[in-house]
Amino acid sequence: QSVTDYDDINKKTKIIQNIMNQSLRKANPIQETVCGFAPATIANVNVGFDVLGISLSTVGDRVEVTPNGTQQNKITFIESATPLPYAVEKNSCTVVIAAMQAQLENPLYVDVRIRKGFASGSGLGSSSASSAAAAFAYNTLMGNPFSLEELLPFAAEGERAACGSAHYDNVSPAILGGIVLLYQNKPIRLPLPKGLHAVSFFPNIEVNTASARSIVSRHVSLDIVSKQVSAMGAFVSGLYQENYDLLRKATKDFLVEPSRKILIPYFDEMKEATLAAGGITFGISGSGPSVFALAESHTVAERILAELHKIYAGQGIETLSFIEDLANGKGCRIAQFND
Ligand code: HSE
Repeated sequence: QSVTDYDDINKKTKIIQNIMNQSLRKANPIQETVCGFAPATIANVNVGFDVLGISLSTVGDRVEVTPNGTQQNKITFIESATPLPYAVEKNSCTVVIAAMQAQLENPLYVDVRIRKGFASGSGLGSSSASSAAAAFAYNTLMGNPFSLEELLPFAAEGERAACGSAHYDNVSPAILGGIVLLYQNKPIRLPLPKGLHAVSFFPNIEVNTASARSIVSRHVSLDIVSKQVSAMGAFVSGLYQENYDLLRKATKDFLVEPSRKILIPYFDEMKEATLAAGGITFGISGSGPSVFALAESHTVAERILAELHKIYAGQGIETLSFIEDLANGKGCRIAQFND
């Protein structure tokens, strides 16, 4: 190429940069420390691989941002049971914040503190809770230049940094709360029937999301696809109709469970016991190893949990579990870092 060609390219690049600069969001920062909280989530919910997720409420991550007066972000503190990177280009929180800064006119750079509320690699949306909390805290600090829905693609970038795939099914309920279906990565909030409870049960073995994704079969038969599409449709109708019988019949995973359940000890025994105890459904939470059950009351949820504990009793695997009334499942919120 000649020098003239390069001049031309440079000119065009400048024009594009100007256009892009014009579309950068204006921010009106509040110049204070902000701490965001985002909850754990159950992704897939059996019927919607990568496109459906539910927010929980009692556990989650805290991410605090403080303007540092420099031209770079810095992670100054991490509390986590498993080591997480302090390098800003590797940590999901700072990856999310940098993606937001790239879209802002005069971004503030920040010191970031992270407090994990539950284990990474648990299957309860650990990286997305941090990504969502970071997006929410930084957006609040900058005076809310983005709507909550606009935060989803930024938070999904945190997922990409954590496991190589920018799936939206954890970050969306973590930010918006409730049960969220993604259609072309745009969130559709679905209703939750009264009384619906979730049981989360975490056998403390590590399952890495990237590996759990790599074992899912890339090619499935038309018959399986047809069953899964039908199950998803019936599940959504069951939610709108508050029809527990329909939900019981519909909430099935034909796509992913067959390949992933081998990662989770006693999966089949737990499923059988859950359904016998009156559970609506039982399945893998996200990519596991956590499993989940849905129940139509707190009493049934307690009965299920007791059965799951019986199966793991004396097996030498530590477990963590909780029951949530899904009506309480809120998304991101402002919190105290030390709560
Ligand atoms: N939908 C994702 C998966 C969730 O199942 O791999 C991972 O948290």
